[in-house]
Parts: sequence; C-alpha cells; structure tokens
Amino acid sequence: MTRYDELLKNAFDPESFRRVGYKVVDALADFLAASTPESRPRVLLYEDPESMARSWEGRFGAGPTTDFPDLLPEILARSNDLLHPRFVGHQCTTALPLAALGGLAGQFLNNGSAVYEMGPVNVAMERNLIRWMAGLAGWNDGADGVFTSGGSIGNLTALLAARQAGAKGNVWKKGVGSEPPLAVLVSEQCHYSVRRAAAVIGLGEEAAVSVPVDERFHMSPEGFERAYEEAVGCGRRPLALVANACSTATGSYDDLEAAADFARDRGLWLHVDGAHGAGALLSPKYKHLLRGLERSDSFIWDAHKNMLMPALITGVVFREGRLSYEAFSQKASYLFEKESREEWYNFAHRTLECTKTMMGLRLFISLAAYGTDFFGGYVTAMYDLARDFARLMREAGDFETAVEPESNIVCFRYLKRGETDLDGLQKRIRRAMLEKGSFYIVQTELRGRRWLRCTLINPRTTIADLEALLAEIRSLA
Ligand SMILES: Cc1ncc(COP(=O)(O)O)c(C=O)c1O
Repeated sequence: MTRYDELLKNAFDPESFRRVGYKVVDALADFLAASTPESRPRVLLYEDPESMARSWEGRFGAGPTTDFPDLLPEILARSNDLLHPRFVGHQCTTALPLAALGGLAGQFLNNGSAVYEMGPVNVAMERNLIRWMAGLAGWNDGADGVFTSGGSIGNLTALLAARQAGAKGNVWKKGVGSEPPLAVLVSEQCHYSVRRAAAVIGLGEEAAVSVPVDERFHMSPEGFERAYEEAVGCGRRPLALVANACSTATGSYDDLEAAADFARDRGLWLHVDGAHGAGALLSPKYKHLLRGLERSDSFIWDAHKNMLMPALITGVVFREGRLSYEAFSQKASYLFEKESREEWYNFAHRTLECTKTMMGLRLFISLAAYGTDFFGGYVTAMYDLARDFARLMREAGDFETAVEPESNIVCFRYLKRGETDLDGLQKRIRRAMLEKGSFYIVQTELRGRRWLRCTLINPRTTIADLEALLAEIRSLA
C-alpha cells in the first residue's frame, strides 16, 4: 500500500470519523460549558495580526503533521468566544449549538444547491423557509425569493432586480451604458454594502444618493424629497429607495410606511435592508417596527444576525416572486433545462452564486427542533435587554446613549468627570478592553463624535454582565 492509499483509507474510514467526531464534539461541548465569566475571564485573546499569521506558518507540509483533535484546543483558545455572555460587539451572533451540528451534517453531505438535483432536500427546505419569511412579511403565494451567502450579496441581488425592473431597456443585455444615468436613494446610515452594490451593478458609487436622517437616525419624508431632487439635479433618474430595518450603527428602524408612500408616489422600487432587524417579525412585541414592510418590493433578512444561525444565511424575498428572476436574466444550458421562470427550484437562476452551502438546512432543523416562538422569544429578550441597558446607564448618570435603542444595538459613551477629550477617551477604553479581552465591544462615529457600541445578540448575556461592563469601563477609564 502506498502512503497515499493508506491516508485515503484513513480519511474515509467511518470508525476513524466517529472517533474524531466524538472527540471534537466533546471538546466543543466543554468549551461551551466553560464560556462563562467565572470559568473564562477573557472573551478574546488579542494578538497582533503579524504574529498571529507567523504562528501558523509552516504547520502543514507534504505529509500529515497534526491531528484535528490535537489542533482544536489551540484553535478554541485563540479564537473569539462568541458563546461567552460578555461578547457583545459586532452583529455576528452566538451560534445555536444545534445549528452548528446542522452545519456539520450539511458540510458532510455537501449538496451544493445551485440547482434542484444537486441538493433536493435543501432546495425544498429553502423554498419553504422563503415562503415562511414572505408570509411573516404579510405576503401571499405570489412572493418568492432565494437565499444568499450574506446580506451584502442579498442587497446586491435585490438591487440588480430593481435595476432590471426600473430600467427602460434590457440593462442585463445591453449594459448600463444604454441607459440615462440612474440613481438609488439610500439612507445616510445605510450599510456600506448598499453603496458598494450601486457601484458593482454599474451605476457608480455616486449613484447612491444619501437621504439625510433625523436626530433618531431615521430617514424623513423631507429627506426623501431632498435626495430625489439632488439625484435629478445631477442628471440621474432615481429607480429605487433603500430603507433600513434596522440600521447598522444605531439599530434604528426607518418608517417603512413613509418610505412606501414616497416610493409609490415617485414610482421607485422599495428595498428594505432587514439584514439585522427583520427578525423582529417573529416578536409579537416588536414586529410593529416593521409596519409597512408588506408594501416594499423586496427585503433581506440575515438569519446569521438575529436568528442565532452560524454564518451565512440571508433570505432575499420579493413581493412579486416573478421579479426575482430579473436579477440575473441569463441562461446556462448546461445547468438549466427550461425557461428560468418555470424553474423555482433551480436557484442559480436567481443568485450570483452557483454552488452554495446547505444554508437552509441549518435554519430548518433549528425551527423544527425549537419552534418559531423560541426565536420570537429570543428577539424580544434581546431588544428588552437593550432598553434595560440604556435605562441602567441613564440611572448611573455617568454614561450617555446616542439614541434610545430600538433594537438590540446600543451606542453609548462614558462621561468621565473632568475629561476634555471624550472622543479620545472612548477610543482608548475600547482599545484597552480589546487588549484585556474581558468584554468585546466595538465603536462607531456618529455626527463627528465617537461612541462605544454593543450588539446584545448573545442570549446568555444578562443585565448583570452589562453592569459589570460599565464597571469595567469606569475602571479602564
Ligand atoms: C443593515 C446591514 N445590511 C447588510 C449587512 C451585510 O451583511 P453581511 O455581513 O451578511 O454581508 C449588514 C452587516 O452588518 C448590516 O448591518
């Protein structure tokens, strides 16, 4: 037997897989059990990027070097612990352990779901999940959509459909050069992927015209008008309006009714970036934040943000399902047999991506195991916690919030008595905390001032953790 034969036998040996699998799951379960402030005082171990990269150099070669279970403790120790209740930074969620197991099954089966026959079960699950999301938005059977790997591709996909639907000619075939200059009206507070999408779809970044926001970071009707006039003044024809539900920096929900009124009056496609906040549709207490969503043309929803799903899984949902075929009006005879519109089950007609992970599977098995109320309860608890956190700071008196939280994102700053450089202070606190690793928080700039920023996305975070966070900030300051 050659060395290759020997390794091949081992690589696909069911018993070896079982042995390694048990060890890996045991190590992950232990890691989860120890993800508490008492057992693990650090949520991350910050190392400078150069030395981190160097430490992984030369660690694989022509032959085997290290077994995975032997490498895993180091991977766990040096990675960020998103399961830890004091990990309250970006909008990357704590992964539901069961969904991670679904990920394992999905990676194992590796049914790339570009077309139905490549991944029949996953395609059917995704179809049902999209229908479910559409139903929550108040849409009927005419609605349809697809999953993409992340909200950035989701926004791109929706804007491509908007471009095709709003252009005078066939932009897909003839290119944007065949059209008078177009514009997309976007919130001043939009995620950068929206502006990037405008550039990627050939309109140019300048085509993303900013709609100013009010003191609560919502687009206003006067703002719509101003942005529209600005676009027209620059010789562009606006074709779409993008609203936030909610925005990245402050978690603010635009008034979707007002956005829908304006879009209707001006004949614009209304796209709602619900990457972070569409999950509130599941919460009886907070679903009112999305009132008006049913009047949009498309929206996205990242289940890897507020549905506890491991990255990535984004639903891109269109009120008129047939328009989802407009984004990529292209035939590939080696993949597709019929006209694209007859083939809802061949998702590649409607996404940038060809092969994809079995992303629907993770969400489907989680909904089946825990039920939709569990996820609604999670969103409600996180949004409630954000309000409690803001109240705590108000009562403490030595902190201020940028705005009363509407979702689970909270922007705040420490008002150290006698400090003349408050912006510099927040920066220094954030840096010190990153290096110490006791909590993970991030920062943002709003109206020229620096704010600390938390996303309360971990269901194990409690108000006591947030009290401890304030105490830690005071002590570092
Ligand atoms: C509002 C909003 N839209 C889109 C995105 C991009 O999503 P993704 O990171 O999945 O590409 C984000 C990410 O933070 C977001 O907050």
